[in-house]
Amino acid sequence: MELVKKRAAIEACKQIKDGDIVGLGTGSTAAYAIKEIGRLIRKEKMQLYGVPTSRQTYLLAIENSIPITSLRQHPRIDIDIDGADQIDENLNLIKGGGGALTREKIIASASKEVIIIADESKLVKNLGKNYYLPIEILEFAESFVKTQIKKIGGKPFTRINKNTSELYKTDNGNIILDIDFDIIYEPIKLDSKLQSIPGIIETGLFIGMVDKAYIGTKTTVKKLD
Ligand code: 5RP
Repeated sequence: MELVKKRAAIEACKQIKDGDIVGLGTGSTAAYAIKEIGRLIRKEKMQLYGVPTSRQTYLLAIENSIPITSLRQHPRIDIDIDGADQIDENLNLIKGGGGALTREKIIASASKEVIIIADESKLVKNLGKNYYLPIEILEFAESFVKTQIKKIGGKPFTRINKNTSELYKTDNGNIILDIDFDIIYEPIKLDSKLQSIPGIIETGLFIGMVDKAYIGTKTTVKKLD
């Protein structure tokens, strides 16, 4: 599995050009891309700058000698490489397993090209089956948001930090709800319903944002456009 993720990441990194500002995704698959970007800088002498999508990614980028920049300095990112929790046949995604969905969505929106890297277990016919949709919310709004979500057919669970058994907190100081919607047949409609609930900061539904996906299999890397 690790080799499959690594292969997808290395293949995707071939799309990076000298001088690019690169969005650095979060998660175990994106970590392979970060290592490869570090190698491109050190060994291939490419001049690249990274915009991290989380603190964890920031630290990994520093470890791999990637010069860091920000959206303030570079509002337009050339290429964003990130992982996903589920990918449907239209390249719509569920993201947020690693809790970085809000910054990941901002970076993807600010990017000229968005490339997703994953192993083939992430490919699904419909989003939502066997995976709960993460959303980032204000802790203040927890009970209100949960009530609204139940009204539209979801079962929300507040994410707990497994290491501390306390509430999981995002890099933005907010909390995450993981919602069981079962199969999400109409992701655009669901996203707009969720976006209209006060207290929800961002959802893990990434609709129409992805240009390409590199899917690692045991034998090859499939490219989806
Ligand atoms: C983090 C994410 C990750 O991209 C997603 O959880 C995939 O992670 P991994 O590559 O470890 O399976 O959305 O918020």
